[in-house]
Amino acid sequence: MTKKTILITGGTGYIGSHTAVQLLEADYQVIMLDNLSNSKADVVQRVEKISGKKVSFIQGDIRDDQCLHQVFQNNPIDAVIHFAGLKAVGEGQSQPMRYYENNVSGSLSLFQAMQSFGVKTLLFSSSATVYGDDGVGKYHEQSALSPSNVYGQTKYMVEQILRDIQASDASWRVGILRYFNPVGAHPSGYIGEDPNGIPNNLMPYIAKVASGELTHLNVFGNDYPTPDGTGLRDYIHIQDLAAGHLESLRYMLEKNTSITVNLGTGQPHSVLELVHAFEQVTEQSVPYQITQRRAGDVAICYADPSLAKTLMGWQAKYNIQQMCADTWRWQTYSKTILKI
Ligand code: NAD
Ligand code: WQD
Repeated sequence: MTKKTILITGGTGYIGSHTAVQLLEADYQVIMLDNLSNSKADVVQRVEKISGKKVSFIQGDIRDDQCLHQVFQNNPIDAVIHFAGLKAVGEGQSQPMRYYENNVSGSLSLFQAMQSFGVKTLLFSSSATVYGDDGVGKYHEQSALSPSNVYGQTKYMVEQILRDIQASDASWRVGILRYFNPVGAHPSGYIGEDPNGIPNNLMPYIAKVASGELTHLNVFGNDYPTPDGTGLRDYIHIQDLAAGHLESLRYMLEKNTSITVNLGTGQPHSVLELVHAFEQVTEQSVPYQITQRRAGDVAICYADPSLAKTLMGWQAKYNIQQMCADTWRWQTYSKTILKI
């Protein structure tokens, strides 16, 4: 049987690179397309080193129709996993047009190219941020959709475009995957999350405090209605998230169907639980100060992940200790292996 070829947009990014490794290990051919706006080209070699397989890398932009045309013309692509996008919530609020143009127009260009070349199998990186704040905090796939920021709106809008495409043409197979809080790194320490500048997200911030690059963590509020007063989130190990893509793809191809699923653990953890787990696992101290709540944060957000388990047998395996250990290995190891 010939190997299936998967195009990964945003392939050198955090989630794309980990998914690429698992696809290669499962004997898919992988083509990465990335404009390197938020990642580095050496990720390609790192992915090849971990997997022992070759990857095709194209430096290009999903908004560039000519580039897309060439990619589809020159390669026998069976399916697309679409990660390319901008993802910083605060930046989306200050630069809405850039976010709509990149995330929404870019996605539309990609879907048009796919349609022209008859490639109609797609997984899309959506986010738990499409759910509104229902006051309960546990979200299943039928929960109301009501994003509260520009970034979330871009995800909601692309989801809606995909629902309309499926309604117009039943030969599309679309997987809308709503991720909760992806953290951790590949256990080899070769790839991980590499945010530019000061991290916005909790886990990379903790890692930089533990390594001494930042002096302390600001904990955004300890007066939420949660057991220790800090926010509860559903942190999911990047390896589990990547595996969720493989299972989704396999399920969609086997059953010839579309899906919308949450990818989370179903286990909420507080900010302070994550801090203490990190300290315990790495034996480093993570000094913190309680500060004001961050605008736009909700108290609780975690997944009901039961649909993914029922449909395709996928469930997360890793706990927060493993998430912290792998983050720390990447944080410390990546500095010593910049050249591979
Ligand atoms: P990332 O920034 O590490 O990866 C995204 C990649 O897309 C980057 O390598 C970037 O250079 C590339 N890119 C951006 N715009 C592009 C364009 N126009 N053309 C080509 N490449 C482009 O982010 P990530 O954490 O790996 O996220 C991947 C996807 O998952 C994003 O769509 C993000 O919105 C979504 N998501 C992420 C999270 C999270 O917390 N990390 C949660 C939910 C959803
Ligand atoms: C987690 C918890 C903070 C930083 C974001 C996006 C969401 C999705 C995942 C893409 C919260 C607290 C954080 C810090 C803190 N991304 N915190 N000090 O906000 O749940 O989700 O990433 O789709 O769209 O909004 O993740 O890691 O920023 O915060 O106390 O320096 O940590 O208040 O309770 P969030 P996060």
